[in-house]
Amino acid sequence: MRAYTLGKWGDSGEDPDLIQDIAKAISGQYNAIACYEKLSRLAPTKEERRQIMEIRQDEINHYREFNQIYVRLTGQQPQITAEPCPDDYKEGLEFALKDEQTTVDFYLDIADKARDPAIKKAFTRAAHDEQNHAVWFLYFWTKHCCCR
Ligand SMILES: [Fe+2]
Ligand SMILES: [Fe+2]
Repeated sequence: MRAYTLGKWGDSGEDPDLIQDIAKAISGQYNAIACYEKLSRLAPTKEERRQIMEIRQDEINHYREFNQIYVRLTGQQPQITAEPCPDDYKEGLEFALKDEQTTVDFYLDIADKARDPAIKKAFTRAAHDEQNHAVWFLYFWTKHCCCR
């Protein structure tokens, strides 16, 4: 027995609110990819640039995975809203670390609400990646904030 009406989303059995959240997650990933490209160009050392590009690659993987989920659930491409990100390296790091931290909670929330185990798994694993990203950005931010 299904707890949800089928409506316009077909028979995925997922809640429309959850599907909206997945669309929001995809838009967030799209913006992270663009911002980290910019941030990597502002990075003062090779090590930081390399690490930010590695993080960016994780975001590309998340973007692709979430997009596949969305298309499977809805048969449509999600709507992307481009958001601005800071032009200054230190501000960009702070922006990124706050965004990563918020995203951890958001993804775990999606994992809790999803019925499909594959969706739960994808968002739980991505939440772990975001937590790891937050630590890297915090480390770089701390170096530029207080160590010179
Ligand atoms: Fe991500
Ligand atoms: Fe991330």
